[in-house]
Amino acid sequence: MAGRLGGKVAIVTGAGSRGPGLGNGKATAILFAREGARVLCVDLAKERAEETVGLIRAEGGEAEAVAADVTRAADCREMVAAAVGRWGALDILHNNVGIESRHDLFDTTEEDWDRVMTVDLKSMFLATRAAALVMAERGRGSVTCVSSVAAMRGHGRTAYATAKAGVIGFVRSVAAQLGPKGIRVNAIAPGAVWTPMVAGLGEAARERRRAATPLGTEGEGWDVGWAAVYLASDEARWVTGQTLVVDAGLTITTNNASLR
Ligand SMILES: NC(=O)c1ccc[n+]([C@@H]2O[C@H](COP(=O)([O-])OP(=O)(O)OC[C@H]3O[C@@H](n4cnc5c(N)ncnc54)[C@H](O)[C@@H]3O)[C@@H](O)[C@H]2O)c1
Repeated sequence: MAGRLGGKVAIVTGAGSRGPGLGNGKATAILFAREGARVLCVDLAKERAEETVGLIRAEGGEAEAVAADVTRAADCREMVAAAVGRWGALDILHNNVGIESRHDLFDTTEEDWDRVMTVDLKSMFLATRAAALVMAERGRGSVTCVSSVAAMRGHGRTAYATAKAGVIGFVRSVAAQLGPKGIRVNAIAPGAVWTPMVAGLGEAARERRRAATPLGTEGEGWDVGWAAVYLASDEARWVTGQTLVVDAGLTITTNNASLR
């Protein structure tokens, strides 16, 4: 199939959306398919992955849904095996899964801390390791991990910011190791994107988040998805270990209010 990802096999984790509308993972899976990739849509909730698969197939794209918990090593191995079993190879892993915690240093419980580290950071390690073992056999592949501008700006969300900063360190470390094997590893740091994940913040916060950026426009899942298409494509063949910030310029300002 033609397109910027034509002929490639991709896994998108968290390919569903937690609510009505378009999340980052769902948008990325749809764009990957539009650009010619065959996409394994992975989600803890299979019906969410199936919804994304339905949207892709309705456009004539190729996708399958798989239920997996990417905080579990066995599930990560099985999701990789499912992609290889279905399409014979794995070219792209897009690690989108992540959960929010809005608690600060004093409000964060140990359980909250452990949960966020497990879902937002350990999942990247387990999924990347499972995929890289298979990619290394063919000497090529691309892994992208979703971080956040929360990793780069001081504010109260302690566990979330720490986990997302960990994602950037993970990407640099693993990119250095996997480069000689032909595998690129990068991160995307989205800004205040309006997705189902943050819909509970309400309209006032939505407006504040939009207005705080130099561009003054609202980010959508598509914006993150297009960055993911670029990093997964051969256009980025010389790019590894990097973090692509997609935030309408938020991180070049000194305004932190938009993140709350
Ligand atoms: N919306 C924003 O403003 C923003 C900003 C920066 C970064 N991000 C990041 O974007 C990513 C989320 O994007 P989204 O819009 O797709 O979120 P979402 O919550 O709508 O969808 C994520 C999907 O992941 C699934 N999931 C959760 N835990 C899982 C697990 N353990 N195994 C498999 N699937 C699991 C959920 O069922 C859900 O369908 C996260 O990494 C988040 O931190 C979002």
